[in-house]
Amino acid sequence: MLSKPYLIDSNDLSSDDLEIIFTKAKYFKENFDGSPFNDLKNVTTAFAFFEPSTRTKLSFELAAKRLSGTTISYDFQSSSQLKGETLVDTIRTMEAMQVDLFVVRHSTNGTPEMLQKNTSGSIINAGDGTKDHPTQGLLDAFTLIEKYGDLSGLKVTIVGGITNSRVAQANIKILRKLNVEVFLCGPKQLLPTDKIWEGKIFNNIDDAIEKSDVIMLLRLQKERMDEGKMPSMSEYIKFFGLSSDNIDNKNISIMHPGPVNYGVELDWEINKNPNCLIQTQVQNGVFIRMAVLSTLAEKYK
Ligand code: CP
Repeated sequence: MLSKPYLIDSNDLSSDDLEIIFTKAKYFKENFDGSPFNDLKNVTTAFAFFEPSTRTKLSFELAAKRLSGTTISYDFQSSSQLKGETLVDTIRTMEAMQVDLFVVRHSTNGTPEMLQKNTSGSIINAGDGTKDHPTQGLLDAFTLIEKYGDLSGLKVTIVGGITNSRVAQANIKILRKLNVEVFLCGPKQLLPTDKIWEGKIFNNIDDAIEKSDVIMLLRLQKERMDEGKMPSMSEYIKFFGLSSDNIDNKNISIMHPGPVNYGVELDWEINKNPNCLIQTQVQNGVFIRMAVLSTLAEKYK
């Protein structure tokens, strides 16, 4: 059991919760041989994505299948929300169909929290606005633990538009719980102010590479940027884009949550670097989501 019967905010995760999830994810990764486990037998999970997703949606769906769960997928474009049904009514309607776990992505901050107040099921936040994306933070931390073991003192720089990135918020919360030194790098307009962030900040990627063990690049979110909140694309690439030239022969891990804007945050060539962890992150996403679903499902068995 986790300390809360849902997963909405990365700050809700205690050290014990992290240990439970990482241990389970490791178990699933080491023991999955193609045959499903039974952790979600008699448990129903709904995937309610009100915003596009490839990795999170598919990996949650696969995770539930690999645990023998019953699943339904809500499709906004063909739903009665287009006829005026409210979000709460959508969730309550699925609850009446005996759905237990709700995996929710929404563009508005706080939506998972609001829905949790209106259901006796368990909400799992699959990304809300710019606020949080707990399972992304968990899979990133798990990927680093696999590579480095104890993360105490590891230096991780998150590069990009920090203030409008839910991935950054989740990672800052979870990595700090694991005693990682988290640094930031990005355009001034997209960094937290001194009052909010007391840690180190780099103004360009070369300085960040010099002082870090891991560079975690964020997708440049054109869809969330207000007018004037971003340098020009060419400036962004010059100061914050990563190419093989920046890395040279340095022993530094490279992460990106995806989807990647190749040629902006990083060059395609970086995928050939043995320290590029992007595919491992995607792979681990399935096992972390299996661990989260399995743990939260205990309440319903
Ligand atoms: N990292 C991530 O959340 O990717 P998707 O938007 O494809 O789910």
